[in-house]
Amino acid sequence: MEISGKTRVCGIIGDPVEHSLSPAMHNAAFQELNLDFVYVVFRVRKDELREAIVGAKSLAIRGLNVTMPHKNAVMKYLDEIESTARAIGAVNTILNDKGRLIGYDTDGIGALKALEENGISLNGKKLLLLGAGGAGKAIAFHGAQEVEELKILNRTTQKAKDLAEVLRKKFGKKIDGNSLSAKTMKKELEDTDILVNATSVGMHPKDDQSLVDASWLRPDLCVMDIVYNPIETKLAKDAKSVGAKVVSGVEMLVYQGAASFEIWTDHPAPVKVMRQAILRKLSELGVHH
Ligand SMILES: NC(=O)c1ccc[n+]([C@@H]2O[C@H](COP(=O)([O-])OP(=O)(O)OC[C@H]3O[C@@H](n4cnc5c(N)ncnc54)[C@H](OP(=O)(O)O)[C@@H]3O)[C@@H](O)[C@H]2O)c1
Repeated sequence: MEISGKTRVCGIIGDPVEHSLSPAMHNAAFQELNLDFVYVVFRVRKDELREAIVGAKSLAIRGLNVTMPHKNAVMKYLDEIESTARAIGAVNTILNDKGRLIGYDTDGIGALKALEENGISLNGKKLLLLGAGGAGKAIAFHGAQEVEELKILNRTTQKAKDLAEVLRKKFGKKIDGNSLSAKTMKKELEDTDILVNATSVGMHPKDDQSLVDASWLRPDLCVMDIVYNPIETKLAKDAKSVGAKVVSGVEMLVYQGAASFEIWTDHPAPVKVMRQAILRKLSELGVHH
């Protein structure tokens, strides 16, 4: 890739951020489409966030991804925030549109697209969502618009209940929050179509953990685990072994990146190339199935 005087810069801000998979994914996509763009990593400390955003504007940086710990704090420095991102209270993508900074959240979009592209439609379905953290909330907001019924279970029960109440009021559907106990999970799974794990349980180094007992899974269930390290979590393995349809966290990662890419470039994202770049990077980092 040749950097020219016209090269447009995108990047990611966060702390820590040096292990991000996004540079590999986006630079591969820019190259594939021959776009004069480059994607870099900016470590930004909490107390320097405002300066970083003001600086990004002055430097005419085209787009930014935003990761921990800035997803919420960054909102106050933007000129405009897309309505669902505002409702979620998180921004993971910024577009610099001729000096106006616009915030989006592509995590929820990415999760839904990952399901859809893998043949799983949420329309008219019952979704059981484990986790009401940042990613869980984004998935809940986008999922609630599609599903017939949504159950949110979270370790901190009140967070699930509060989120369900907001969504119920907004969408007027059957949406409830409850505790993440074995009893509730087992009961809810009996008549769920789609199960999404949006907690960090099962993430490396605790690869052998799953919230869901393998005996509760059925062949007619669709399961997505948003954890992508390991690529195939214990939950995903258990679901596969009973014949359930499984979507990996890598798919969500790819589609949230694809949504950001399209916001910045106005080109359809080369999803296949982005997936390959992620898998290559994960393998270099020693992350396997
Ligand atoms: N594939 C992707 O594109 C993608 C995107 C974003 C995130 N992720 C992954 O998703 C996971 C969650 O990320 P996040 O940003 O939502 O994090 P977060 O905001 O910190 O939320 C963590 C969630 O996990 C729950 N949790 C943590 N430890 C638990 C335990 N031992 N038992 C039960 N629940 C537990 C938390 O429950 P409490 O509320 O009770 O603390 C909360 O619901 C991470 O593994 C992250 O890498 C993947």
